[in-house]
Amino acid sequence: MAKRTPNFICQSCGAVYNRWKGKCEACGGWNTIAEETASSNPMVGPVATRPTRAKGRVFPLEPLSGDTHEAPRTASGIGELDRVTGGGFVRGSVILLGGDPGIGKSTLLMQASAALASAGHRVAYISGEEAVAQVRLRAERLGLSGAPVELASETNVEDIIATLSTGKVPSLAIIDSIQTMWTETVESAPGTVTQVRGSAQALIRFAKTTGSAVILVGHVTKDGQIAGPRVVEHMVDAVISFEGDAAHHFRILRGSKNRFGPTDEIGVFEMSDSGLREVQNPSELFLSGRDQGTAGAAVFAGMEGTRPLLVEIQALVAPSPLGMPRRAVVGWDQNRLSMVLAVLEAHGGLRLGTHDVYLNVAGGLRITEPAADLAAAAALVSSLSGVPLPSDAVYYGELGLSGAIRPVAHAAARAKEAAKLGFERAVAPPPRDGTERSPLRLNPMAHITDLVAGIAASKPRQRPALARGEG
Ligand code: TYD
Ligand code: MG
Repeated sequence: MAKRTPNFICQSCGAVYNRWKGKCEACGGWNTIAEETASSNPMVGPVATRPTRAKGRVFPLEPLSGDTHEAPRTASGIGELDRVTGGGFVRGSVILLGGDPGIGKSTLLMQASAALASAGHRVAYISGEEAVAQVRLRAERLGLSGAPVELASETNVEDIIATLSTGKVPSLAIIDSIQTMWTETVESAPGTVTQVRGSAQALIRFAKTTGSAVILVGHVTKDGQIAGPRVVEHMVDAVISFEGDAAHHFRILRGSKNRFGPTDEIGVFEMSDSGLREVQNPSELFLSGRDQGTAGAAVFAGMEGTRPLLVEIQALVAPSPLGMPRRAVVGWDQNRLSMVLAVLEAHGGLRLGTHDVYLNVAGGLRITEPAADLAAAAALVSSLSGVPLPSDAVYYGELGLSGAIRPVAHAAARAKEAAKLGFERAVAPPPRDGTERSPLRLNPMAHITDLVAGIAASKPRQRPALARGEG
């Protein structure tokens, strides 16, 4: 006899309980847990109704070595998108595309659909949010009205699958968005976790059985979660998010899971009046408007996947009127900042305990690489001492708790990108083997004391604030 499956499910985060609770322990939501009957739960349904068999069917077991084949892909022709998917949409795979409302998900997918359709592929764009006329308006604005994309405004998953199953198998089917879809196999209302999961499951089955690639658009809630995500994320082949903020025109496409490609690549776009434009050289974009000659700014030579990316890290260190000085960080990890500050205090001889510290990655980019430690430290020391950093230098290196600066990977690629953009010096740890040829002059830094001493040594005689005022 099969064990009775727990079936109280939080409708906002998907956590499962075996009894009702007022508050979800996983997401903290009140009154979000609802009971699901076996028939309304697609996870439970098939298992519960499966007839018990006395004997299992014997299937052949395969050796580990044997025929392999590269997953067949359809490239969208939008380079920045293909970079993130790993070279195009894999046949029969399902991608979840998440992002804040208004960030440009529908725009991106309309551009990708049009490019694929124009190349002769069958592409279906199913909008559950907008009427056909609205989607047409967007296509017109993007100058893509001529592309033979098949369009529908539908929300019933069974109808959608029946429609897409007639005729040639689509190369790509877009479901915009998964939260608006509903399936008849489930009783709950559209948008609930149960419906999202049931609809996603039906669409995934459609992709796997027909070989059509499917993209599910997912809305992101205020705290950055794709609603009903934990239930969908593990079911799909790839999870990609579209990021950016209202203050900036550029958007970043980032993969967080990909069964058929890399997850560390990013795609950079710029939102314009006529849709999303690919940004071929993101470093130029992130360094544009750089304020040279002011204290507290360091250029970090970073890597995003296989691509080097230069970005400015800005710091402001100022005496604090507060008993508990503020530490605020945008675009970087708060814990990482705390660690760099602690190392600067313990090994660099800096006194930061009575100062407010603000750190900002310019342009709204989010950095996760430990190699940014040295650039952040340089910006902090520069701001505290009032000494601007040389404008022809880039910084990279990971900081250890002992104050030692450790070499990081891809030094050559970082230096090459920096040289391309006119930088002449790299302030970085000495390379491990010492043989690497670099287009930049290396200012080797083995310890945080070298960095602090180097910046202090270049301090001009008059106070920099006065010097700037005169110039
Ligand atoms: P949209 O793709 O509808 O966002 P999402 O599907 O993620 O909710 O994009 C909407 C925003 O993009 C809207 O604020 C207008 C802007 N936009 C442009 O700036 N240029 C354009 O060419 C288009 C189509 C939209
Ligand atoms: Mg949309």
